[in-house]
Amino acid sequence: MTSSRQSAATAPSQDLSQVRFPEGFVWGTATASYQVEGAVHEDGRGPSIWDTFAHTPGKILGDDTGDIADDHYHRYPEDISLMADLGITHYRFSLAWPRIQPEGRGQLNAAGVDFYSRLVDGLLERGIQPWVTLYHWDLPQPLEDAGGWPARDTAERFAEYAAAIHDRLGDRVPDWTTLNEPWCSAFLGYASGVHAPGRTEGPAALRAAHHLMLGHGLAARALREQGARDVGITVNLYPVDPVTDSTADRDAARRIDGLMNRVFLDPLLRGSYPDDLLADLAPVMDFDHVRDGDLATINAPLDFLGVNYYTRHVVRAGTRPAEPRPTNWVGSEDVEFVKRGIPVTAMGWEIDPDGLYETLTRVWREYGPLPLYVTENGAAFDDKLDADGRVRDEDRRSYLEQHFAAAHRALTEGVDLRGYFVWSLLDNFEWAFGYSRRFGLVHVDYETQARTLKDSGRWFAEITRANGL
Ligand code: FCB
Repeated sequence: MTSSRQSAATAPSQDLSQVRFPEGFVWGTATASYQVEGAVHEDGRGPSIWDTFAHTPGKILGDDTGDIADDHYHRYPEDISLMADLGITHYRFSLAWPRIQPEGRGQLNAAGVDFYSRLVDGLLERGIQPWVTLYHWDLPQPLEDAGGWPARDTAERFAEYAAAIHDRLGDRVPDWTTLNEPWCSAFLGYASGVHAPGRTEGPAALRAAHHLMLGHGLAARALREQGARDVGITVNLYPVDPVTDSTADRDAARRIDGLMNRVFLDPLLRGSYPDDLLADLAPVMDFDHVRDGDLATINAPLDFLGVNYYTRHVVRAGTRPAEPRPTNWVGSEDVEFVKRGIPVTAMGWEIDPDGLYETLTRVWREYGPLPLYVTENGAAFDDKLDADGRVRDEDRRSYLEQHFAAAHRALTEGVDLRGYFVWSLLDNFEWAFGYSRRFGLVHVDYETQARTLKDSGRWFAEITRANGL
């Protein structure tokens, strides 16, 4: 995706009062098990790679852990009430595999299944559709000990787990997402090592990426055999632009687009790896881990694609660092990432709503047609809980408004966008950043676990009810 930054994406005079979404549009909020649940030792839950990682000193800012998080495991009824106040139609959450299969295989842990069963029932009672993600990064530790995602067996174990839990919840849950952001699991987990399990073995990240997708394909097949209605996957996509039009910068953008976006989109939606990606990686590794039939399994039709969008990458050709450091960009370590000096969120991520428009229209143009959902979008800012009990987060409201408008522009151009999930319902454990970054529509006081709807949440409640801006 090159030099599209100056394209028709910008709509200078978009009248926001005209922004109406189609009837039946899905409005939701999203969370993930390790980020909100806490209760890590309760009711037979086993350890995940995130428990191990977070308890390794120096891995997480402030050495925070998910041990307690938002205590959602106990407070979910209150959290469901908050969702009802927000007027959302759907709640996207993930299942903690180690609650359901503490060893990552075999017998299901009845108490773990029961928790999710109660959560699903509680949502349905309030008229909120559960939208389940099977894997949002909390791999059972015993499976990592056996090799983790770089090992093929993990894909088989994932499909077994998926079928077993779908068998218990599938009667009440229509929408199933296999994986959240396999890029993060593979590259942050096994290449740069900034996420669990913290390994820094570049080629292992590519093997992990393949086995994650294989696990997706095997799980999707198993769920369909059980009569699942809607099965999809969520990927995190970024437009990747070259900082100049030079051949070298454009090549840098092509390489990063390959390692970030096309490494997943092509196998999932075309049944092949991009030739240029394989050529880029040839000096570093072979692809012997790809077996006959894998790509057909991975390429089985999707009922929807979930897109998580946060920002854009702008890159330039640089020089290979003299002291190699672990990076996510296996085989392309020389590429440099450029900041443009535009406003950023508390994550340091540049605020670029046009990038959402570009991402949705690109997927549609190059890989579609298929139903799309924005399964995550949102922003961290330095929120303050004022003395009068309000969080005046105009920055977050404005961020969301601009991104909703960008998504709407994609819709008006024919993209089959069916819904939008805000990240996140609650402030929560933001991975390597611990509790220092707040993404919620609802503020959480981590001392008392008190929840306070932020101003952005009040505003969002109007959007969901008006189905427009
Ligand atoms: C995404 C993750 C989600 C959250 C947001 C900010 O990459 O899927 O869990 O951390 O980023």
